Amino acid sequence: IRVLSVASEAYPLVKTGGLADVVGALPAALAAHDVETTTLIPGYPGVTATLGKARAVHRWPALLGTPARLLSGEIEGHPLLVLDAPELFARDGNIYADPGGKDWHDNWRRFAALARAAADLGSGAVKGRSYDVVHAHDWQAALAPVYLRHAPAGERAARSVITIHNIAFQGWFDAGVLPWLGLPDDLFTLDGIEFFGGVGYLKGGMQFADAITTVSPSYAQEILSPEFGMGLEGLVAARRDRVSGIVNGIDPAIWNPATDTALPARYTDRTLGKRAANKRAVEARFGLEPGDGPIFTVVSRLTWQKGMDVLGECVDDLVAMGGRLALLGSGDPALEEAFRLAADRHPGRVGVMVGYDEPVSHLLQGGADAILIPSRFEPCGLTQLYGLAYGCVPVVARTGGLADTIIDANEAALAAGVATGIQFTGVSRDTLTAAIARAVRLYADRATWATIQKRGMRSDFSWDRSGLRYAQLYRGLLDT
Ligand code: ADP
Ligand code: GLC
Repeated sequence: IRVLSVASEAYPLVKTGGLADVVGALPAALAAHDVETTTLIPGYPGVTATLGKARAVHRWPALLGTPARLLSGEIEGHPLLVLDAPELFARDGNIYADPGGKDWHDNWRRFAALARAAADLGSGAVKGRSYDVVHAHDWQAALAPVYLRHAPAGERAARSVITIHNIAFQGWFDAGVLPWLGLPDDLFTLDGIEFFGGVGYLKGGMQFADAITTVSPSYAQEILSPEFGMGLEGLVAARRDRVSGIVNGIDPAIWNPATDTALPARYTDRTLGKRAANKRAVEARFGLEPGDGPIFTVVSRLTWQKGMDVLGECVDDLVAMGGRLALLGSGDPALEEAFRLAADRHPGRVGVMVGYDEPVSHLLQGGADAILIPSRFEPCGLTQLYGLAYGCVPVVARTGGLADTIIDANEAALAAGVATGIQFTGVSRDTLTAAIARAVRLYADRATWATIQKRGMRSDFSWDRSGLRYAQLYRGLLDT
């Protein structure tokens, strides 16, 4: 089976969050099941620079009104296509937002072009290329299934899958963009791509894709409710028989404490003692006073979704309980400032690094004792999986993928030896503080703590099962 996986980011070429990790990991995960994945991403400056002198395999004189080329390359040994459309993508800085932090004014056009290119590839309009399935990720690629359905070469068109990594980001644009999209006018209806008077990209993708997936079974259920569905719950319900939840895995080539070059000391579940050297490195890096008590870490976008405002309210309690905090994150300026102030209030106890740093994120997983993830909603979440793999015990809100991947250290689970972390229900100062208190108590019982760490490291966070499930999904679509 040949699949075209289309997204706005893919690790290691371009990453702002978990989407990139997943898109980057899929080709290898699927290759194990006889699926050949070609990844299509936009040609941002960093991406085209990495590609170097790549071969142009196709040219559009006007793709959404601008000249574009398709460059061919490789991503971690798998086929890669890059949409080189300088007018749309050759911009420095954030891939979604201008230097002032506002979404690029023409995001509707940038990502319609990406989707259009994918649909052309999926409908045989690009000579020498054919795909069985076009797999679109999130709103940025979501028009691909719409274009495919309405492609000139429609009858030869590939099947389509849309994966919702986060239904909170829907790609909603003013109805004025419609005439420029090159889609039939009669699509602008409730059964088409119309959404609250504008054009909904994610909605359109969900409407026309042959299958809809999201990144955990719990989230697939949750988005049936208004609280989590964010206006799309009705559509999720209407297409229920096409919706499934497939949990993300982690890429063992990148996230493995036995081989991770970002760690001063590498280790396995049998040599956990070596983590101590990494903990010292975390202390040094974050200006924490050395000590035996637990270091909690956060590696996160600093946003409301991630419950970072609530964590801000708990920092003093965490310190009062004898914990220390090493936080790496960026996002909401008010939250960045709140954590900077917390660090000022607690010198030696709270260390904050505002920014985005891949190696430091590895160091924190390999050296801190527990990772805090108090998300209000979490489609899957990857940092808890990295925590499992690295023996950095996840303390998570019971929601979405966090609920599906962590086994709470309650009495029964501890007795059965299956606990891998701590879960709490409902994100508030009280529930999070109580969870931190539980972690501090458990940590004091070092034998039990080590059991939880080892159990986590040995749990199955691989892509094996989920890779198979995607492969089965594709095959199912081709049989119908
Ligand atoms: P989301 O995609 O919603 O942000 P995930 O948990 O799925 O959440 O993925 C987040 C990814 O981004 C992980 O790979 C995490 O390590 C990484 N990450 C988040 N914030 C930072 C940061 N400040 N520096 C480095 N990596 C980060
Ligand atoms: C989104 C979600 C996150 C998920 C990631 C990868 O960013 O917020 O929960 O892990 O996509 O699927």
